[in-house]
Amino acid sequence: MAEHAGRSEGTYAAGSLLTVEDLSVADVGEILAMTARLERMDAAERKRVLDGRTVALLFYESSTRTRTSFELAAKSLGATTTLVSDKSSSIEKGESLKDTGLTLRALGAECIVLRHNASGAPNLLARTSGLPVLNAGDGMHQHPSQALLDVRAMLTRLGMEAAVDGKVNAKTLENVTVVIAGDILHSRVARSNAMLLPKLGAKVVLCGPEALLPDEAFGLNVTDAPSLELERDFERALERADVAMMLRIQKERLLANTGIDVAEYTARYQLNARRAARHALKVVMHPGPMNRGLEIDDAMADGPLSVIEEQVAHGLAVRRALLVRALGVSA
Ligand code: CP
Repeated sequence: MAEHAGRSEGTYAAGSLLTVEDLSVADVGEILAMTARLERMDAAERKRVLDGRTVALLFYESSTRTRTSFELAAKSLGATTTLVSDKSSSIEKGESLKDTGLTLRALGAECIVLRHNASGAPNLLARTSGLPVLNAGDGMHQHPSQALLDVRAMLTRLGMEAAVDGKVNAKTLENVTVVIAGDILHSRVARSNAMLLPKLGAKVVLCGPEALLPDEAFGLNVTDAPSLELERDFERALERADVAMMLRIQKERLLANTGIDVAEYTARYQLNARRAARHALKVVMHPGPMNRGLEIDDAMADGPLSVIEEQVAHGLAVRRALLVRALGVSA
């Protein structure tokens, strides 16, 4: 098994994707190019790409988009998939992540797609199983495939066709400002996007109240990271935004832990038609699941600027490429 050391802890099988930190601009270009090639193939040709290969989906947390798209992506490439969920497996009896991984490997899994509520769990699984692991979201840490699909959705809506085909560099998004608004503190999507988008030149503005966006968010000193800014005022953030990426607000967390009033939050931070009309937004994004009426209203979620459904479709396309990369197949 080929191994390489990344910035992730320890060594892990080539083709693993644990964090966007491990992706160079060239890696992003290769993944986008592979995504485009696979998308252009006819269904029969695509079905031969991973014929005879086995992919395990290991989910310790609920998921609709990520789980289904990885599964459909693997099946569309001809791979056999098996789903293990914490709710209906020996995980319920206390089996460890390491032993679950070794069991899947013994059953023939060649790659594991893992969602886990603990940050760093994919690193542990990659180290102990020796298999390529694709991080499908770990705790508040990372959601790398989401950030990649978000980049592709953004490039597509902005009409950057060459970039969608993989011709990207450190200046591809240099004229694009992305506002990520909401519960930044708890969001692996925000973290992954805030790390990936600047690699392509985008300016990222993180926006939210202090309880959900502490000054030390991500441990980054904003003055040392000029492509990343914090802005508490949503109107001011939107003034220069090309893209608004709204994050899910957990009402229970908002009420219980932060003392933020939901009505006040909505008044200050909801993306709605009235607010958007004052700005020149080009693209509205949300990773899902949405809380309609809280962080976003129906008019914006379903309106002409929204790429929310397209994000889901890009997820299927990008995850095909990640599976092919993980299994070391050239396509
Ligand atoms: N965006 C996202 O991760 O959605 P799911 O939780 O439905 O997979």
